[in-house]
Amino acid sequence: MNTSEALRHFWPQLGLCPAQLEGGLLISRSPIDGCTMARVAATPLAQLDEKLSRSSAAFRRWRQVPAPQRGELVRRFGQLLRRHKAELGHIVSLEVGKITSEGLGEVQEMIDIADFAVGLSRQLHGLTIASERADHRMMEQWHPLGPVGVITAFNFPVAVWAWNAALALVCGNPVLWKPSEKAPLCALAVQGLWERCCAEFDADHPAVRGEPPMTQDLCQLLLGGGEFGAALAADPRVALISATGSTRMGRSVAQVVAQRLGRCLLELGGNNAVVVGQTADLDLAVRGIVFGAVGTAGQRCTTTRRLLVHESQHDALLQRLLKAYASLRVGDPRENGVLMGPLIDEAAYTAMDQALQRARGEGGEVVFGGERLSLPGPAQGGVYVRPAIVTMPRQSAIVCEETFAPILYVMRWRTIDEALELNNAVPQGLSSAIFTRDLIEAETFLSASGSDCGIANVNLGTSGAEIGGAFGGDKDTGGGRESGSDAWRQYMRRATNTINRGRTLPLAQGVSFEL
Ligand code: UN1
Repeated sequence: MNTSEALRHFWPQLGLCPAQLEGGLLISRSPIDGCTMARVAATPLAQLDEKLSRSSAAFRRWRQVPAPQRGELVRRFGQLLRRHKAELGHIVSLEVGKITSEGLGEVQEMIDIADFAVGLSRQLHGLTIASERADHRMMEQWHPLGPVGVITAFNFPVAVWAWNAALALVCGNPVLWKPSEKAPLCALAVQGLWERCCAEFDADHPAVRGEPPMTQDLCQLLLGGGEFGAALAADPRVALISATGSTRMGRSVAQVVAQRLGRCLLELGGNNAVVVGQTADLDLAVRGIVFGAVGTAGQRCTTTRRLLVHESQHDALLQRLLKAYASLRVGDPRENGVLMGPLIDEAAYTAMDQALQRARGEGGEVVFGGERLSLPGPAQGGVYVRPAIVTMPRQSAIVCEETFAPILYVMRWRTIDEALELNNAVPQGLSSAIFTRDLIEAETFLSASGSDCGIANVNLGTSGAEIGGAFGGDKDTGGGRESGSDAWRQYMRRATNTINRGRTLPLAQGVSFEL
């Protein structure tokens, strides 16, 4: 089946209308075969103001709904995702070229965060704090924040929206979603499922007479270009902007949001290293490194881009990696046994090729891959490459940049201090990992003077984080933390309340002010 036929096969199974796929101005092209799969309607920019007003109105209603009831809506959405995991996973594969298992994994990530958010909906706790004044009590409350603008990238076209939306919704906030222009179908499919979930919920929870349905305008979609991101960033009605993408995009969003003293949650570039120590289990390391470097065709923000190897292990590990890379199947990501699909588009290949040329110019040697593949059959229309391994004499300029492609730069070290210095000497700070059986080395890597990344792992790779932990990193990665742990707090505002149950008015700090 070509991609366009496959899309028309899965789309109705999601309960969606095929007419959505025709006649619009936004083109969805499959990276698998380069086919135009659909032309979907773009959101007119002129509608944004109205959508923002609707979002503000939805906020005023939704914030009054008890949090566990908000959780019930998200619980139902998780159930609907479970029922449609396969079809939605296929749409992800068709539109962004993920292998089937990774497409399904992405939907699983949505289900996981939905479950997490449901639990949270009964745990949005504040503290009770000892007051210094007699007969006083202090406490914190967490209140809904307001409309949340979510900007997502092509590489996780459904999961990253879900990380944000599931938390935002249980926290009492509506969502406006500006997905990547490269993945409008994924967004439409999710929105379609969401609207079905809302219709069922509203049928079971009739609104008070004269009031709109409880879920109305809770999640709205903005299909279009960067102008939507820019407008969301500038509009004071948007209480929080959560943006995933390049550091360049994040910087411009952050500046506009800072101007109005709004809130930002940024999840930007990564340049993630795996450190391999003298005592590492190389079998484990090879598996972790190859999944991290080649999985999702090197297009995760957590992709392993740098390999820092103790000199004693360098040659042995490189040999094993070369063998693993040589056996790895690149091709139509829907085929069994294929582990790497296409790059997202031509521009991605140009960036990869230019990076490899610069690496050579900086003394690197491309010891494997990097070439464009011409595959037989329909895949001819896609951009397929062999993943590259490049040995570098030092961590030069190109290695410090994030190139969104499967390039692994390999460097050596002698002491763990050297390894840590290399790990931390890039502008980005998302993910990192060490393979070692030396406890002291592992603990050093995780310590305050160890890896400076938001994610630091021992004996597993840099990518594929679970939703339960806070996800994100510092420096050029933007500083935001999404998904698990206490990331929910960013979607709420904190109120400190002091209550006096006495008949006098003692002042804090012992101040006297007698009338
Ligand atoms: C991203 O690439 O933007 O940890 C997100 C991972 C995934 C999420 C990646 N769970 O690789």
